[in-house]
Amino acid sequence: MDINKLNRALSGGMFANRIVFLPETDSTNDRAAALAVQGAEEGTVVFAESQRGGKGRLGRKWHSPPGVNLYFSMVLRPAIAPARAAGLTIVAGVAAAEALPLFCPSPIELKWPNDILAGGKKVCGILTEMRHSGGDIGHVVIGIGVNVNIRSVQLDEEIRSRATSLREESGRKISREDLAAAILIRFEEWYRVFLAEGFEPVRKEWIRKSGMTGRRVRVVMRNGVREGTVTGMDENGVLLLAAEGSGPIEIISGDVEPVSGEE
Ligand code: BTN
Repeated sequence: MDINKLNRALSGGMFANRIVFLPETDSTNDRAAALAVQGAEEGTVVFAESQRGGKGRLGRKWHSPPGVNLYFSMVLRPAIAPARAAGLTIVAGVAAAEALPLFCPSPIELKWPNDILAGGKKVCGILTEMRHSGGDIGHVVIGIGVNVNIRSVQLDEEIRSRATSLREESGRKISREDLAAAILIRFEEWYRVFLAEGFEPVRKEWIRKSGMTGRRVRVVMRNGVREGTVTGMDENGVLLLAAEGSGPIEIISGDVEPVSGEE
């Protein structure tokens, strides 16, 4: 990756000249968290060409081969209560969902809580991790992985039918610097909206982009599986479901899939 080109595209913004580039690392989220503990300022972003231990949600691994994709993690230090930090994942989702259509003709969709789909398949994932003591946030790390130029055949067999890349969808090679800049610039815009006006404008935008409201879904959670209709997302980023048999429930963590035949 050409970090000078990326810095130029970001000039004047919160991430300009705060990029840490690593040819290879365990996980950019872990590196960003370690830098944050050492005092790295807000806006520090760790990029890696490849990750040995790329992390996904719910303890999954994030396949991170060199040279083809984006793996980066931002350090943030928002002056908000820890309970509001989940909203930052949604901020990142909205930002990425605005940037990706510039590079990809397939419909881009947000899937709760933080998956981005292109043509119905996963193309981008977001992992937010936070350190706080009591009521103060020490730092938040938001990690974003995008399948950019990877070919289908290079994807892990286990995810091949459910994942795609921007190159597969668009039929052309995409500049990772341009894409990273587009995501970071939009993230900064939405982050400022979130800090100044709160979660509500972000929530509205997420609902508009996700198209999930009113859909019948199956939610796979640690403690079981529920089916129901999505009724919205609350002020903390929690998914609201009208569950069959038991009325409204709140989903804090889980995997949401459309019930087949309902897509
Ligand atoms: C998910 O969809 O489960 C979240 C995937 C997040 C992957 C990114 S890649 C950059 C950053 N570093 C990590 O170890 N994970 C995130």
